[in-house]
Amino acid sequence: MTSPSLARDVTSAETIHGRHEFLLPGMLHLYKEPLVLVEGDGVRVKDPEGREYLDLFAGILTTSVGHCNPRVEEATIAQMRKLGHVSTLYGHEMHVEAARKIADIAPGALRRTFFSNSGTEAIETALMMACLATGRTEIIALRVGYHGRSFMATSVTAHSGWRPLATPVAGIKHAKSPNLYRCPFKTPCDDTCVDKFVDDLEEVIVTTTNGRPAAFIAETVMGVAGYVVPPPGYFEKAAEVIRHYGGLLVIDEVQAGFGRCGEHWFGIQHHGVEPDIMVMAKGIANGAPVGATVTTDEIAHRWQGKHISTFGGNPVSMAAMCATQDELRDHDAPHNASARGAQLRTALEEMQTRHPWMGDVRGMGLMQAIEIVKDPVSKEPDLDRTKKLMEASREEGVLIGLGGLHGTVVRIGPSLLITEEEMAEGIEKLGRAIDKVGA
Ligand SMILES: Cc1ncc(COP(=O)(O)O)c(C=O)c1O
Repeated sequence: MTSPSLARDVTSAETIHGRHEFLLPGMLHLYKEPLVLVEGDGVRVKDPEGREYLDLFAGILTTSVGHCNPRVEEATIAQMRKLGHVSTLYGHEMHVEAARKIADIAPGALRRTFFSNSGTEAIETALMMACLATGRTEIIALRVGYHGRSFMATSVTAHSGWRPLATPVAGIKHAKSPNLYRCPFKTPCDDTCVDKFVDDLEEVIVTTTNGRPAAFIAETVMGVAGYVVPPPGYFEKAAEVIRHYGGLLVIDEVQAGFGRCGEHWFGIQHHGVEPDIMVMAKGIANGAPVGATVTTDEIAHRWQGKHISTFGGNPVSMAAMCATQDELRDHDAPHNASARGAQLRTALEEMQTRHPWMGDVRGMGLMQAIEIVKDPVSKEPDLDRTKKLMEASREEGVLIGLGGLHGTVVRIGPSLLITEEEMAEGIEKLGRAIDKVGA
């Protein structure tokens, strides 16, 4: 399959050369040389030279129902042929239908959605919404959290590597991230640490803000941080704290949403907490550019003034989103994520017994990670070994991702429809790569 705009097949080397010449050099890639991809089908992708890879990272947890999913393709092409663009100035049934689908699965009273084009934009919308609803401007986020690439999103992101500028937006403060593997309070971390993490959140509010925060924003599983899973009880108590000070709870489900964590549609449902505002993107539309910010009637009505989006709610993106959601529902994605996540987790834990450098294996559902360390006692991050594992996995024909403050956490997050056989194949390939890296 060749792009119609290209008259000839283009090699990996030519594409990489073009990338170096014409695109921004700061764009991260995962290997010594970027991997170029030209075709996809389900959990498989191919490079221009015809080499096939089993994709366990899904374009950063985004092709939730698989590459080139036929149902999504058909819905997208059909809508493109009928009406490709209107803007939010006009009504369109797909726009309403997509919002209805979010309202059907979102927790509690969340039923009004604003669609944009990326996770970053959806975060911007959520934080502006929280400020408008409360009449306040200070925001608390978590250290090592990631929320996107704009001025506001990099300000709530607490990860120096992802911040090209000093915190560009004022009034953002960061509490300790509830990372059980690297707990700042106790080794090994135990149940008493939950209260200490929540106390830290409160201390940040009373010591570094004017005591009147607009919102606390957090990911339910901290994706870029390396799938850090906050402990049970954390969100319940954190919600009490932020609400006690009159602020809203904003939950970022950009990575964790749509069944990815298993069992429920959203990560926050594992904690029995209803957010005031929730943000979604990535797997929402299988790669079509959709970000969504959902809130309650009451909060939505507090956004007064003019508001549009040229591309947000675009009929073609909405058609892709509706078809993706139908696929996720019809295949019971939360259930499959639980089952395939458990299959993967068991295999990773078995590998961990043979490789002490696999310091921590953690995650939920189809968000599973390996933190790579020099030894399990010092827990010193091992970047060299991580780089070797990335190259070895590429050689074995399996795609995995990276994260963590030091870039030493391997992240796995395939399509939510991955089958048992495909997962077994992925485990085998990853196992071979892990063995290559040594004991
Ligand atoms: C948790 C989280 N929030 C927000 C974003 C930003 O999304 P986007 O890259 O679509 O702007 C990301 C992207 O990785 C993310 O992981």
